[in-house]
Amino acid sequence: MTTSTTTLPGGTWTMGDRTVARVGYGAMQLAGPHVFGPPADHDGALAVLREVRALGINHIDTSDFYGPHVTNRLIKEALHPYGADLVIVTKVGGRRDEEGGWLPAQSPAELRQGVLDNLDNLGLEAMDVVNLRIMDDPAASIAERMEAMAALQEEGLVRHIGLSTVSAGQVAEAQAIAPVVQVQNEYNLAHRGDDELIDALAEQGIAYAPYFPLGGFSPLQSSALSAVATRLDASPMAVALAWLLQRSPNILLIPGTSSVAHLRENVAGAGLVLSAEDVAELDAIGG
Ligand SMILES: NC(=O)c1ccc[n+]([C@@H]2O[C@H](COP(=O)([O-])OP(=O)(O)OC[C@H]3O[C@@H](n4cnc5c(N)ncnc54)[C@H](OP(=O)(O)O)[C@@H]3O)[C@@H](O)[C@H]2O)c1
Repeated sequence: MTTSTTTLPGGTWTMGDRTVARVGYGAMQLAGPHVFGPPADHDGALAVLREVRALGINHIDTSDFYGPHVTNRLIKEALHPYGADLVIVTKVGGRRDEEGGWLPAQSPAELRQGVLDNLDNLGLEAMDVVNLRIMDDPAASIAERMEAMAALQEEGLVRHIGLSTVSAGQVAEAQAIAPVVQVQNEYNLAHRGDDELIDALAEQGIAYAPYFPLGGFSPLQSSALSAVATRLDASPMAVALAWLLQRSPNILLIPGTSSVAHLRENVAGAGLVLSAEDVAELDAIGG
């Protein structure tokens, strides 16, 4: 059973046969420093995940290379057996070295192993959505990698395919091979290279889940953002998330946090209503 209603701000969006609240959660911050190793506060990480579900969030973004394995095992420990409405979106295409470095793992065999590792550590038999995370030139062909993803879909291990860190040309190349339900690229108030792509995907009914919605490892800082936040008596994080939610109906929020308090703030903050004047001032930041 899937749910098509939510009390969370922004309503819902459907990817393939799965419907999610547009306010989701990104689990990357639950691993240790630099997304490597276990968290300092294991029970605190479990508490964040349980609060995600208590707030009504049914879309969690993760990867087995967070930790590695750590984030997925935390999700399993906190939430398995999963509710029927929960959609866990993962990504494959990378691996970690022993120092925590990020390495590509993009051969068909590595992509398949990546999916199997996610299934194993999450305790699932098939993934609802797997994003193929590209790690090279935006002009590079991704056909062979997309064919490998399509084979995993045929095999029944992956229900729906998404793409991450891709150009418009790569999305079009992939769509000629198999349907794409989600694109996950870096995008926020100050980093707006995907404006055209977002609009094009919205017309095709494809979700766009921006990573680093709050600036990621370099939190968003802007005098214009602070000015709007002060005027609305809100936090800059709330304004940044509300702006994304209002930017386009296909945008799904996956802000990351390791804190229950920040999680609650972000969910409430995303519901802030911005006026046309607020949006114009915020648009000028990335213009
Ligand atoms: N496809 C990809 O290649 C890719 C790359 C990066 C990320 N992602 C996904 O995107 C998700 C979001 O990205 P992200 O987590 O890197 O960055 P983000 O959501 O832009 O920002 C997370 C940072 O903001 C802080 N934060 C969150 N809420 C806050 C609040 N209310 N007040 C103050 N600080 C707050 C967090 O610290 P605290 O923990 O202290 O709250 C953390 O340092 C990830 O979790 C991951 O699932 C995907």
